[in-house]
Amino acid sequence: MTTTVNNPAPNSQGLAGIVAATTALSKVEGTLGRLIYRGYNIHDLAKRITFEEAVHLLWVGHLPNQAELTELKAKLAAQRKLSPAALSVLQALPKTAEPMDVLRTAVSADGAAGEISGAPTLDQAIMVTARIPLILAAFARLRNGQTLLEARPDLGQAANYLYLMNGQAPSEAQERALNSYLVMLADHGMNASTFAARVVASTQSDLASSVVAAIGALKGPLHGGAPSKVKDMLEEIQAAGGKEGAEKWLRNKLENGEVLMGFGHRVYRTVDPRAEELKGMAELASPREFGFASYIEETALKLLAEYKPGRKIYTNVEYYSAVLLGSLGLPGDFFTPTFASSRVAGWTAHILEQAANNRIIRPESDYTGPESATFVPLARR
Ligand code: ACO
Repeated sequence: MTTTVNNPAPNSQGLAGIVAATTALSKVEGTLGRLIYRGYNIHDLAKRITFEEAVHLLWVGHLPNQAELTELKAKLAAQRKLSPAALSVLQALPKTAEPMDVLRTAVSADGAAGEISGAPTLDQAIMVTARIPLILAAFARLRNGQTLLEARPDLGQAANYLYLMNGQAPSEAQERALNSYLVMLADHGMNASTFAARVVASTQSDLASSVVAAIGALKGPLHGGAPSKVKDMLEEIQAAGGKEGAEKWLRNKLENGEVLMGFGHRVYRTVDPRAEELKGMAELASPREFGFASYIEETALKLLAEYKPGRKIYTNVEYYSAVLLGSLGLPGDFFTPTFASSRVAGWTAHILEQAANNRIIRPESDYTGPESATFVPLARR
């Protein structure tokens, strides 16, 4: 049987260059190295606003005034409690489980328990955004045999997360650093996890299901799963002789056809503006680790230009995220979940945007199998 393709468009592997949605949330300009959230350049927001302000900008459409910010913070703080369903999932899962799998399962449990159900709403977005840090911190403490801490309503999202993870309130500098990180990672056009969330939302499924799909997509090392791999890479190079052995180690990876973690991007063909900001922040937060990481970055970029000439491969957002998040006391396997605790703002904003102006997302495929096969009954095959 032949599949007829309506309005055939060229097949773009990985949907590169295909416009899959209309959005007023964020714009990624790959050749200019520019990222904007609702008109604001990310460089103007990164160190100047809190995560809550960024979330308000994405969800509501403008930066909040003081009264709006106070109201949103109060709503987020009021949702800082683990549901019984999520807690029992956390207790039941093995301590060795990957935190991203734990997060996916706990958000799913909230959906199944009816905590998040029906058509997507802003209140549901607030609930899931407020709860993700709690789920993560609870699992981090449970797997270490520590008792769970009560969330602190007096702390913002960034400080409360570090308090719950580390057992003590962060310094002002640490809180500022995490806020900047959370602001910069909150949205990024039609990235793979956001696309996954929008596809699920477009079927009129619920917000929990959409967020669960997004978590699954973010987990992969070609997307949000990279920063812990960057950490592993830096540690392996350190163990293999440090700076002296670095070029050989990196060359070996490229000779074997492997990718170098923390480099390359589907859209950016120049410096990723978030990587630029994160580099400066990592240098301040952790000068020693930064020194080694920047040497490896320089060597990797030189080799990528040699092995992949003309491909314009630059350092991506994940590279210095690894150094920065490590300096905040977060374990490597919590780097990607921390990314999720920020990107959930973008996912939920996109889910609401999709729901408000929906058409089911249903692309076509290029069939490459045989056109006509003769059926043979089971007994004669
Ligand atoms: N190391 C080695 N080679 C690379 C790298 C890299 N980090 N990145 C791209 N390339 C190569 C590709 O293999 C391809 O080679 P080819 O032309 O010989 O086939 C060429 O450069 C061009 O690749 P692109 O089309 O630019 O890359 P694509 O859009 O397919 O993939 C991706 C982008 C997945 C991010 C890729 O760069 C990669 O695997 N990077 C490493 C993993 C990583 O850091 N992921 C985090 C991304 S940031 C984020 O999602 C938040």
